[in-house]
Amino acid sequence: MRVLKILKWLVLGVAILFVVVQFKRPARTNPPVDEAQTIFAQTQMTPQVAAIVERSCRDCHSNKTVWPWYTNVSPLSWFITGHVDEGRRNLNLSEWGGYDKDRQSRKLQQMCDEVTDGAMPLSTYTPLHPGSKPSAVEVKTLCAWTAAERARLSAK
Ligand code: HEC
Repeated sequence: MRVLKILKWLVLGVAILFVVVQFKRPARTNPPVDEAQTIFAQTQMTPQVAAIVERSCRDCHSNKTVWPWYTNVSPLSWFITGHVDEGRRNLNLSEWGGYDKDRQSRKLQQMCDEVTDGAMPLSTYTPLHPGSKPSAVEVKTLCAWTAAERARLSAK
C-alpha cells in the first residue's frame, strides 16, 4: 500500500505543478502589419506559392500567427512562443520590406533550402497541422519561385 500512497502524492504533486505553471504564460503577440511591407505585396508571388507559405510558414514567420487554445497551456506555451519568436527573428514575412536586397536574396535561398532539406516547417509543428508539410511538387513550386525572385532582385 506504500507504493499507492507515494503514487497518490506524486499525481497530486504533478497536478499542483501544472496549475502553478499556468501562472507563467508568455504573451502571444501579433505585432501590427503594414500590408505594403509583406512578402506578399513586395514580390511577384503566385497564388500557389502564397497558399504554401500561408499554410506551412505563416504561423512562425509572420506577425499573423494563429494561436490555437493549446498555445496558452504551459509548459507547452513556452516552447511554442519560443519557436514563434525565434522564427520571426530569422525570417519575418510580414516585415520583408525592411530587409535589404542582399538579405532578401539570402532569405529566399534559405527558404528553398530549408524546405528541400525537410527542416521546415519544424517537425513539432506538422503533426498538429495536418497538410502543412509541403509535398514534393510544392517544394519544386516554392523553389522555382524563390529562384525567379532572386533573379529579379539581382537584375534590379
Ligand atoms: C513551428 C514554427 C515554424 C514553422 C511552421 C516554420 N518555421 Fe522556419 N524557422 C523556425 C525557427 C524556430 C527558426 C530558427 C531556428 C532554426 O533555424 O531552426 C526558423 C528558421 C527558418 C529560416 C532561417 C534559416 C537560417 O539558416 O537562418 C528559414 C529560411 C525558414 N525558417 C523558412 C521556413 C519556411 C519556408 C517555412 C514554411 C515552409 C517555415 N520556415 C516554417 C520555425 C518555424
